[in-house]
Amino acid sequence: MKRITYLSAIVIVTIIVTVSSCSSKRQPGKVYMPDMAYSRAYETYAEHDSAKFTTDIADAGHKIYYNSQPVNGTVKRGELFPYTVPNDSNGLLNLSNLVKNPLPPLSKADSAEAGRLFNINCAVCHGAKGEANGPVAAKIGGVKSIIALSPTYSDGRIFHVMEYGQNNMGSYASQLDRKQRWMIVQYIRTLEPKKEATATAAKPDSAIVKK
Ligand code: HEC
Repeated sequence: MKRITYLSAIVIVTIIVTVSSCSSKRQPGKVYMPDMAYSRAYETYAEHDSAKFTTDIADAGHKIYYNSQPVNGTVKRGELFPYTVPNDSNGLLNLSNLVKNPLPPLSKADSAEAGRLFNINCAVCHGAKGEANGPVAAKIGGVKSIIALSPTYSDGRIFHVMEYGQNNMGSYASQLDRKQRWMIVQYIRTLEPKKEATATAAKPDSAIVKK
């Protein structure tokens, strides 16, 4: 009997606590674990109270340091490795050539997608066939024929141009993700003139050598 009285007392107390804590949604009562109740807004586009947050690493000691950027050296899940070649002449002319295209040969569907991306992002200047005759080429000025240059360029060098831009051409790093840019490199290869042409052109030379 005593046990039943205890149990019913516990049940009644629990009901009172539960009901009273839910009585007003607008006034949730005392918050005893603020970190759990209110998350610190680390979301990219959230506003940050400058009294509490700083984007200057030198202030990190007495304010919360947060610059909305991924931590250096981290790679997003499913993302290809970052391109770390620097934007200078050594990077362009030497280091970029050492970077291999990380993608396997494109499937038919991916190749069509790469062509679509090329036509949206590159063809306005470079033309659908990469011959520097896109509709705005004349306005931009200095647009070069991709297919005249690309046969002598490594995949890495073409990627490098998209990563950083060059002279009148802007960077495409924010419009196209890394995978899309490597796909475009492969698509450019399909636009290049076929190799047989150079093979036949070489014949007369060998004939001369024989003489
Ligand atoms: C707004 C016009 C414009 C667009 C769009 C554009 N380019 Fe260019 N591109 C240029 C110009 C101008 C140059 C010549 C740059 C220079 O003087 O070195 C160039 C040069 C290049 C070169 C040769 C670089 C060299 O070493 O001379 C490549 C490769 C290239 N572009 C690829 C691309 C690809 C791929 C895209 C699409 C992602 C693209 N471009 C989009 C204007 C453009």
